[in-house]
Amino acid sequence: MTNRATFGSKLGVILATVGSAVGLGNIWRFPYMLGENGGAAFLLVYILCILLLGLPVMITEFFIGRYSQRNAAGAFKALAPGSKWSIIGYNGVLAAFMILGFYSVVAGWTLEYFVQAVTGSLGGKSAAEFTADFERFSSGVFRPIAWTVVFVALTHTIVISGVKNGIERASKIMMPLLFLILAILCVRSLTLPDAGKGIAFLFNPDFGKITSSAILSAMGQAFFSLSIGMGCLITYSSYFYKETNLQRIALQVTLLDTLVALLAGVMIFPAVFSFQIEPTAGVELVFITLPNVFGQMPFGAVWSFIFFVLLALAALTSTISLHEVATAYVLEEHKISRAKAATYVSLGVLVLGVVSSLSLGIWKEYTLFGLSFFNLLDYVTAKIMLPFGGMLICLFVGRRIDRKILKAELTNNGTIPFYFFHTYAFFMKYIAPVAIGFIFLNELGIIKWMV
Ligand code: PFF
Repeated sequence: MTNRATFGSKLGVILATVGSAVGLGNIWRFPYMLGENGGAAFLLVYILCILLLGLPVMITEFFIGRYSQRNAAGAFKALAPGSKWSIIGYNGVLAAFMILGFYSVVAGWTLEYFVQAVTGSLGGKSAAEFTADFERFSSGVFRPIAWTVVFVALTHTIVISGVKNGIERASKIMMPLLFLILAILCVRSLTLPDAGKGIAFLFNPDFGKITSSAILSAMGQAFFSLSIGMGCLITYSSYFYKETNLQRIALQVTLLDTLVALLAGVMIFPAVFSFQIEPTAGVELVFITLPNVFGQMPFGAVWSFIFFVLLALAALTSTISLHEVATAYVLEEHKISRAKAATYVSLGVLVLGVVSSLSLGIWKEYTLFGLSFFNLLDYVTAKIMLPFGGMLICLFVGRRIDRKILKAELTNNGTIPFYFFHTYAFFMKYIAPVAIGFIFLNELGIIKWMV
């Protein structure tokens, strides 16, 4: 357990963790989930899930990772030898593969769009034409797959160069730039005709829209966006320093992640209403809305180029963290080299990526529970595996870990205060697991509490 890699600087620690959290989940998935689940009511439930479930689970993952100094599965073997708790880690490693299987496809789309910004024309097209363009592209065979392969190759290259060099460096430049461009695009979107309708959709809740499936979607989105429930933050925090203030990092990451999602909402929804796009368009929402916004800006192609480069980078810092969960597990538990472990992971991801890309095009007819392979991977991971993992993580620490050890780790042996430790411990031990279980049972129809 000694001589493990660590991040190279304190700033690197926070940047890499924010880099994992901020990604397509905030800018692509959050607006499309919000659009599908009734707007402001979803936002309200989402924020509650972030605060009441997300934050305690994140702090708990940080505890497990830094205390055990192991990968997502190894951590449970080290802390509870011979027990079945390591199932949490296997659930996480599997989720990492599955998320990468659809996330890399969407990340590939961002590459297509940034190349199109350089070569294609944005001007003179209607919203319907942008939608048709997207559908033609995403249902094709060669181009989306080629971009997926490029994206997986980029991720692979950074992961084999190790934690310090790869992950940190990639996160450092991108985050401030991403904030800046999101703010600029928000201003453009807010000054479009009919922007007010989008803002009302985003901030004026219709409580009748809080259904059990909207709650499950909001909870899944909270877990997905914060990168929790699958051991990603266990893996990253195992590389943290002993002096790192875990509580502060958790708060900072949660706030920044939520801020980016809100900015993405403000960037997208005024434009959605202004260009009369359906908020329920689903996975394509962001990709059919933004070209319209760029088309309305002077030097639209330049803005579009900058935006998609940054979005691709934000996606990359997240795919790196997902890949690292699986790679760290294979390398540490099976004692093979980093390069070999990463290669196995990348090959597995490519297979899933190809199938999920084709499932939006020529294999559209093959569905399971009415979902394409792409949507199935998304549904099963975000709405089932991550909250389930989060629930078990809380139960594990609540049951198996001595409170004194927990407190010592989270206060760096008493050197920093943890004012709300009892509140945190209560939420982690009781509220989070019970609430997650309740939402599951309600959605499955086993208990009937709401429609
Ligand atoms: N949080 C990332 C995003 O919002 O794009 C996605 C993600 C990364 C999910 C890492 C899970 C994870 F472990």
